[in-house]
Order: sequence, then C-alpha cells, then structure tokens
Amino acid sequence: MLTIEKHGHGGDMLTAQNMFGIPQDQLLDFSANINPFGPPQSAMDAMKDNLNAIVHYPDPVHRRLSTRLAEKLGVLEDQLVIGNGAAECMALVLLALQPKLVGIVYPSFSEYTSLSCTFGASIESCYGSIENNFKPGMSDLFQLIDKVDLVFIGQPNNPTGILYTKEELRSIAIYAQNTNTYVVIDEAFIDFVPFQENFTIYDELSHFPNVIIIRSMTKFYAIPGLRLGYSICSEEVALLLKRKQVTWSVNSLALIAGEACLQESEYEEKTIEFIGSERAYLKERLEKEFHFTVLPGSANFLLVRLPTSMTANELQSKMGQHGIMIRSCSMYPGLSEQDFRIAVRSRKDNNQLLEVLTKVVKNWGEME
Ligand SMILES: Cc1ncc(COP(=O)(O)O)c(C=O)c1O
Repeated sequence: MLTIEKHGHGGDMLTAQNMFGIPQDQLLDFSANINPFGPPQSAMDAMKDNLNAIVHYPDPVHRRLSTRLAEKLGVLEDQLVIGNGAAECMALVLLALQPKLVGIVYPSFSEYTSLSCTFGASIESCYGSIENNFKPGMSDLFQLIDKVDLVFIGQPNNPTGILYTKEELRSIAIYAQNTNTYVVIDEAFIDFVPFQENFTIYDELSHFPNVIIIRSMTKFYAIPGLRLGYSICSEEVALLLKRKQVTWSVNSLALIAGEACLQESEYEEKTIEFIGSERAYLKERLEKEFHFTVLPGSANFLLVRLPTSMTANELQSKMGQHGIMIRSCSMYPGLSEQDFRIAVRSRKDNNQLLEVLTKVVKNWGEME
C-alpha cells in the first residue's frame, strides 16, 4: 500500500497532495512534529530585515551563532558544531568517526540506520518492547554497546517518546567509555521536555569525551525548511566533525534566524507548557473515546497503537482523504502494522483530527 512516507519520512506535503488530491495548503500535517506556534516572530523579522545577506557567502565558521549558543548553554564555542539540521550533524559524526558497527535501539528515527549504511557501517540492534513503552533494558543496551563502535540514543526517542534519566545516561556513557564506544545522544526534541536539564548530560562532557550530543532547532522553532542544528562534544571530536563539513552548508538566513531564536524565552516557556497540556488532552481523548493504546510521550508527538482490526496505513489513507496527514509507523523495525504517530498541534487542529477520526472509525467497514 502506498503511503506518504515513500521518501522515508513524514511531512512530505507534495506526496500527500498527489496521493489525496488535496492542495498542500489545505492539508493538516500531523505527520511531522513541528511547534504549532510557528517560528518566533523575531526570527521571521530578522530574516526579512536581512534578506540582502544572501548576496554574501554565509560565515563559514558560524561565529555569531556559535557565540550565542555557547553563552546560552555555558559550553565552549569550540565544543559546538553548527550544522544544516541535526541530520547533517549525524552525517558528520559518521563521516568523522567512521564506525564499522553502529548500534541502534529499535524502534527509532530511521536516519540512524540509513545514514550509517550510507557511510558504510553495519548495524547491530536491540529492541524495546511495548510492555516497557519500548524502553530497552539497561542490560540489553550494555550488551549492544559491548559489540559496537558507536551507538545512537534518542532522547527523547522518536517515535516512542521515551526518555532516559540523567543517571541512566551517565551509566551508558561510562559503560561505553570502557568499551571504546562513541555514544551519540540525539536530543532533537529535548527542548519540548519540561526541566530538560534533568534529562541531559551535555554539561558533563568533560567527563565523557566519547559522547556527542546532537540537537535540532527545526522542530522547536518550527523552521524545518530552513535547516539548523548543532552538536555539542569535546573540542577534539568537534574538530574532526568540522573537517568533514562542506563549507557554507549552513545558509545565512538560517544563521540569522537561529540567533533570534536563541533570544526567545517567553516563546520557549509558552511552547513547553502548551505542548504538555495539549499532549495530555489528545492522549486522554484517544484512550477514552477510541480505546487506542497511547504511549505516554514526552515531546510534541504521540505514538498510538490501533486495535488489530485496523492498520495504520489504511487509517492514513482514510484520514488523508479528509485532509489530515498522520505518520504511519508500520515500517519502523520493532513496531507493528497498527502503529501510527501524530504531532501535538493547536487545540483547533487537534479537535479537527479527533473529529475526522471519529468519522473514519465509525465508517471503518463501509469505507473499505
Ligand atoms: C529524532 C530526530 N532526530 C533528528 C531529526 C532531524 O532533524 P533536523 O530537521 O534538524 O535535521 C529528526 C527529524 O525528523 C528526528 O525525528
């Protein structure tokens, strides 16, 4: 069955437009996890005011954004590598460190596997189970780390939303140090997590030179089309990553918008609070009214399991005909045909999703 993920990811508006015959601007996209508030006004204004910047090359070493970021995070500028999205940061890690065997905890973001394979690594894996909300046991993780040169950890993990505690992250880092394994902690969604300082060890990297943290600015600041992300790691590893980066891969407008985003604090607080309460609202209604199994989640998305009488691909197709895009998760290793993911959007959009879902579920048999 054809799905909107035919190019590997959610958020593919053109594929959805072609599949459902609905113009892109009339589709509601729950298949990519983007802040429903849209980009901060300050970032939009900064870009508009500086459109002329595109007649010059971008700063090849991203000085202004690195300075801002280092100040905000309290790390050294030399520990930061700015990238064209978290995706570029992952590619740089793999290019620079050249792991032969990469460890992946399934289900997780598909680029861990596809980028590793692109850069010539083989994959070793372990799986979480639904009984533990897909969080792997620490002993399974350690066994995986024993075998591999580098392991990817999603924090929070996409699509499951699971979080490791700071203590767990420390033990993973220490264990991996003893086995000469790099640990890549993908914190693409950490900004959505309340009290995120309890779920990261970015400020302890002087103890863990084998740990590389990757963050995205595209989800939280709603700029996926602009592309911006960064790595935090030891100065030594940062140098290795920078040597592999294509010069000017981060464009001028992304750098300008990024600087503005970093100055936002009200927007950050508002987003975290709103997402937390709206995620709880969606979860409760999905459980109570539809009897779906909904994983707890910790960021701006929820993983949902349907009863066996329905499949996520069919649901995607039926919802799509009403202009609602959901992310089928049936292709994730470790998940089933019943699993799908939705982003947490505005109350109005979330209600529209629930309304369409009610219609689709009620008519399930008849519409087939
Ligand atoms: C877990 C995770 N990490 C990283 C990325 C890539 O982020 P970026 O847009 O910054 O490249 C995604 C995008 O969906 C993701 O889901």
